[in-house]
Amino acid sequence: MLRVSFLGLILCLATKCASSQPFQKVAASKVLSSNDDIGAIKPSPQVVWLAHESVYPNNVAQTAPLVDFQVQQPPATPPTQACEHVLMTHSFANSYGQPGVATYTPPADCGPIGDWAAISLNFTCTSQGVQYDRLAILSLSSTEIWRSSTAEPTSYGIIFTALKDVTRYSALFAQPGELVFDIGNLLSEDLGLTGVYNATLTATFYAPALGWPKTQKADQIIPLGNPGATSDPLFSVPPGGNTTVTLPRNVAQAYVEIFASGNSEEEFWYTNVADQYYNSLPADTTYQDGPFREVRLLIDGVVAGAAFPYPVVFTGGILPTLWRPISAYGSFDQPTYYIDITPFLGTLSDGQEHVFTLDVVSAETDHAINGNWYLSGNIQLQLASSNIPTTGKILNYNVAPYAQPSVSGVVAPNGDVNVTVKASRYVEITAEIITNGYLANVVTWTQSLEYTNFQAYLDDVTVELVDQTSSGTSRSTHNGVQVLYDGFNYPFYMDYYLVTIGNDSGWYASIDHSYDRAFLPSPLIPESTISTHQYGAGVYLYDSDGYFTYANGTTTEDFSYSSSIGDTYTRAVTAVNSNITSDQIGGSLANTGSWWTGWGVFGAPAGTRGAGTSYVGRTFGPVKLGVHIDK
Ligand SMILES: *[C@@H]1O[C@H](CO)[C@@H](O)[C@H](O)[C@H]1NC(C)=O
Ligand SMILES: *[C@@H]1O[C@H](CO)[C@@H](O)[C@H](O)[C@H]1NC(C)=O
Ligand SMILES: *[C@@H]1O[C@H](CO)[C@@H](O)[C@H](O)[C@H]1NC(C)=O
Ligand SMILES: *[C@@H]1O[C@H](CO)[C@@H](O)[C@H](O)[C@H]1NC(C)=O
Ligand SMILES: *[C@@H]1O[C@H](CO)[C@@H](O)[C@H](O)[C@H]1NC(C)=O
Ligand SMILES: *[C@@H]1O[C@H](CO)[C@@H](O)[C@H](O)[C@H]1NC(C)=O
Ligand SMILES: *[C@@H]1O[C@H](CO)[C@@H](O)[C@H](O)[C@H]1NC(C)=O
Repeated sequence: MLRVSFLGLILCLATKCASSQPFQKVAASKVLSSNDDIGAIKPSPQVVWLAHESVYPNNVAQTAPLVDFQVQQPPATPPTQACEHVLMTHSFANSYGQPGVATYTPPADCGPIGDWAAISLNFTCTSQGVQYDRLAILSLSSTEIWRSSTAEPTSYGIIFTALKDVTRYSALFAQPGELVFDIGNLLSEDLGLTGVYNATLTATFYAPALGWPKTQKADQIIPLGNPGATSDPLFSVPPGGNTTVTLPRNVAQAYVEIFASGNSEEEFWYTNVADQYYNSLPADTTYQDGPFREVRLLIDGVVAGAAFPYPVVFTGGILPTLWRPISAYGSFDQPTYYIDITPFLGTLSDGQEHVFTLDVVSAETDHAINGNWYLSGNIQLQLASSNIPTTGKILNYNVAPYAQPSVSGVVAPNGDVNVTVKASRYVEITAEIITNGYLANVVTWTQSLEYTNFQAYLDDVTVELVDQTSSGTSRSTHNGVQVLYDGFNYPFYMDYYLVTIGNDSGWYASIDHSYDRAFLPSPLIPESTISTHQYGAGVYLYDSDGYFTYANGTTTEDFSYSSSIGDTYTRAVTAVNSNITSDQIGGSLANTGSWWTGWGVFGAPAGTRGAGTSYVGRTFGPVKLGVHIDK
């Protein structure tokens, strides 16, 4: 199976694709779909390839590459000695199953190895041509540390930089290891896929200094992932992935971090319809297994916690013009989820093997999902001060195997189908854990998570609306002190309908989504609050002969970040047809020396301004649908 993440194709039933009124809804359609097997897609006049806006006429003057970005806070780095090391440069051409691999050696030029005050990574990538967005998985010593994706290129070329604070993985960076960067790309003359991704991965280590001590960090990090996987540690789920782990005997506290994203038929999981309404829709409208997804962690077959994942939209998703140059939140650094497994240490410290399972389940009666999700994780451990084995027991375990679902809906006489899926999840675990032979820690781990998803398929399935919210609170206390807190709210609204404008037909989409999260992942990582809202709308059109004619898109995003150590960052940015029309950056991290050199409060770099208008929001034709012509 190919690891690709994109909106693969949109099928339009050609006989219904003609009308002459502006914004009339015209055709029953496979509104959203992905395909994970590019080779199986036969280009035909009925297949609309989203890569089309990358196609240019010969006579447009060259302009600067488009600078794409995900709005995100810069890493908070200390003003101490900074040592920059290029970890890898790699050109990802036909790289499916062939990741970039580099030997990692801990740098000795920035203070004692492992005592760094901070570590940040810089993933900078260029591409030119036509290409889908691809998942990008970075792992060190078989442990995933960054899940990104790529921005789709254009014929003039694109560049993006994403920075990530990886201080929490200091224990991994302190050891020699193998660095594996997996961007499964595919070139194909037949399909017109020409874009190579050229990546540079740089690490900056910051030496400790007076006032900037070495950070608190996990003593040990243990990967949860597929040991049989060759190019990265990912489990392809279903089925759930098992890792057999033997922990040190003197662990004082332990947290599991989970990486999870839907792929292929699960890329737009939030648009999949509940099984009992699937047959009320025309064939191929969407996928079944419903829209609810819960990522679970089981220890020896018992649920230890769950995450209601944030829906990350990749740069080819739904309407690609929306994500140039402002990509969706999470697309270059996907959110992760933490579960406090300290309550299980009484058992996990017995020196025996234990099985950690990561899976994804739905709210359908059989809990099934489609293919596939990619999962991995790691256990971040802190050891007790002595070698005396940890003991303890679970005092209260009140956790259902699955979230509590409810599905309701209506099939109207005119064929409209409206479906609401809800799910609630409660977790309550209390344990007493004894470290050093005498120190008692009363641990309570609670989760209260809510989910609701409304879908409407209207007017002969020419209109699809999705209105979803996941929200909740996860909290862990150790002897009454809060050590993990995750208060989140992820509303996602999508409006999608088929349109005709003049002689052209195509689709209109708007997305209104937010990521609001107050997050203390563990006592070893500072708490942060992120609140971001993005709204985008646009159209994609082609003529009655199936030639691409016009696409446009406007996206606006507000972002604010604050951390428990006093850093702040805000940004309000709007792009109209790839042209940044306003951009305001503020906060204490706005102009940090190591970040966005030359951008700072002045906004995006010059290349961004106007660079995109040459390929979005203009008529290029004639370009036959289903055929890529990269002149
Ligand atoms: C990618 O790298 C290759 C090999 O070094 C080079 O030929 C190509 O021009 C680069 N492309 C971009 C878009 O940077
Ligand atoms: C994972 O382990 C569980 C027992 O904990 C077992 O039931 C399941 O079949 C295993 N799954 C796989 C994919 O091996
Ligand atoms: C279905 O949902 C749409 C959009 O909210 C609404 O306008 C319509 O009245 C609903 N139809 C039925 C039959 O409930
Ligand atoms: C639509 O097509 C008709 C017939 O080919 C043509 O006469 C007309 O000019 C076209 N309209 C537009 C707005 O392109
Ligand atoms: C996009 O095109 C549609 C259809 O022509 C138009 O109504 C809308 O105003 C355009 N949006 C932008 C931002 O140009
Ligand atoms: C881009 O936006 C700026 C600021 O609104 C505007 O002055 C400029 O004309 C726009 N450029 C293009 C090519 O639309
Ligand atoms: C990130 O790396 C790129 C390529 O190595 C470099 O040009 C850029 O200046 C770096 N950005 C930051 C903020 O360090």
